[in-house]
Amino acid sequence: MFRFTDFSRQQRMLVKSLELSAKATVGDPEGLREIQARTETHGRMAITREMYDLWLAAAIATARECDPRWDAAIEQAWRTLLGFIIRHMTRSSTRTGSPTDAAIFVVSGTWRTTAAEASPCLIDAVSLSGCSVCGYASHPPGTAIEVTLSATGRPALHLRGRVAHEQPHGFAIAFDALAPEQRAELEGVIGSLRNSQTGE
Ligand code: HEM
Repeated sequence: MFRFTDFSRQQRMLVKSLELSAKATVGDPEGLREIQARTETHGRMAITREMYDLWLAAAIATARECDPRWDAAIEQAWRTLLGFIIRHMTRSSTRTGSPTDAAIFVVSGTWRTTAAEASPCLIDAVSLSGCSVCGYASHPPGTAIEVTLSATGRPALHLRGRVAHEQPHGFAIAFDALAPEQRAELEGVIGSLRNSQTGE
């Protein structure tokens, strides 16, 4: 696949991907928009699961070269974050691409259990009943979780819920029953994600 590729260009693409992934996690609107744009362009290419595995190995090797403090925990964090983004990109491309489909939007935020400090993370598949969060720890179904959605241009929205099931790079969260004003806010967040990430 990479026989005729320009390697310095590939290297720049990988570094750029690492930068935008890190920026998006902490809420940088450009990083979030770029992930959405790449999800759309890459969804139109015939990229197989094996190609994404090769891409991930190359991205990890690049991150290792760029980070003098590299260790096993940092590697695990990158694998989780990039795995979540690849999952987001591949899951979105198998969908119809309807602008009302919650799974095609990615947002930044935090999640925390009652015992732990809040961790910044990427979140996708936001609907009125739940969402998926990128998570670096293991929590069994039923664990109480507080998720904060920080959609660009909206006040942060704090929601309580439970782990519905673990996923390869985090958790599916089911929100607890929403008060009417929380429900209205969440509808607003979903609407603003749709607008900001489809360029409307
Ligand atoms: C095997 C998997 C992949 C292949 C074959 C691939 C291929 C490509 C190609 C052909 C382009 C140029 C066209 C365009 O800009 O859309 C590109 C650009 C790009 N890709 Fe990928 N890609 C892969 C995985 C990923 C993943 C997982 C990310 C995650 C963030 C990513 C991020 C980017 C970025 C940021 C650019 C734009 C670079 C620039 O501005 O020059 N790619 N990729």
